[in-house]
Amino acid sequence: MQSETIEDECCVPPILVVNDLTVTRSGKVVLKDIDLTIHKGEFIGLVGPNGSGKSTLLLSILGVLKPHKGKIIIYDSEPNTRNFFGRIGWVSQAASYLPRQVKLTVKELVELGTVSGKNLFSFSSLFPFSSNVGRRNKVFQAIKMVGLEDVIDVDVSRLSGGQRQRAVIARALATEAEFILLDEPLVGMDREARNSLLKLLDNLCHESGKTILMVSHDLTAIRQTAHRMIFLEEKIRFDGPTNLFPDLETLADLRGISPTHESPIHINPIPWNEEVK
Ligand SMILES: Nc1ncnc2c1ncn2[C@@H]1O[C@H](COP(=O)(O)OP(=O)(O)O)[C@@H](O)[C@H]1O
Ligand SMILES: [Mg+2]
Repeated sequence: MQSETIEDECCVPPILVVNDLTVTRSGKVVLKDIDLTIHKGEFIGLVGPNGSGKSTLLLSILGVLKPHKGKIIIYDSEPNTRNFFGRIGWVSQAASYLPRQVKLTVKELVELGTVSGKNLFSFSSLFPFSSNVGRRNKVFQAIKMVGLEDVIDVDVSRLSGGQRQRAVIARALATEAEFILLDEPLVGMDREARNSLLKLLDNLCHESGKTILMVSHDLTAIRQTAHRMIFLEEKIRFDGPTNLFPDLETLADLRGISPTHESPIHINPIPWNEEVK
């Protein structure tokens, strides 16, 4: 039929459009002139020096911080509206630091991700063997996806840092979030845990069609996995395919400073690619 057009990549609407965004915090401009478009299935690494506005950008996308100027449209709506709930997952490094006195098993922690205003006081929670089965399946699937099924009934406080971070990611997955924002999830992880987390996130993009925007200080690690990189320092200084990400000297040029011995981000120089404008 004429009306059934083949869905071309170019015709699929983006899930996030940020337009001419300026954000101020305590009267100071933190983000300026930000334009950003993200499509389903992308894995984007967001890097930049300390205090460059990375967390501020995530908090703005989540609707926690309001734009001073410009607009954010996510799933065709403004952040934090009805369309938004359950579709966005947020994982911060701090999220895996649970207070010691909180005693929760991995299963319980992940199950908390499925509690929403909709089901908190629903009949299904009074009749655990009815429609709660679907919810339990989601919890188990999420735990399996992050490879924690062997410690499902173990107290979260007894897990390693890497395992705890995976549990927090499983909680985001259990909500069936389509777009997952991660703020420095690799901090404090050893190399093995870090690599397996990156592999998990990569699989989520390729096999489950999730979209990932991840802030990381670990440029080497993020560059191995992300398909697209954004370098932010108040403005977006670079946004492009990972293989075109500039080397240290070019980054310093983009930032308008001379490179020093102590770079604020960890960079292994890569050959300069002429195509970067
Ligand atoms: N709660 C806050 N109130 C006022 N300013 C803040 C607050 N949090 C961060 N800032 C400032 O906003 C700027 C960007 O911070 P942030 O987004 O946390 O940077 P990053 O995540 O890149 O390290 C910094 O100058 C920081 O001092
Ligand atoms: Mg931050």
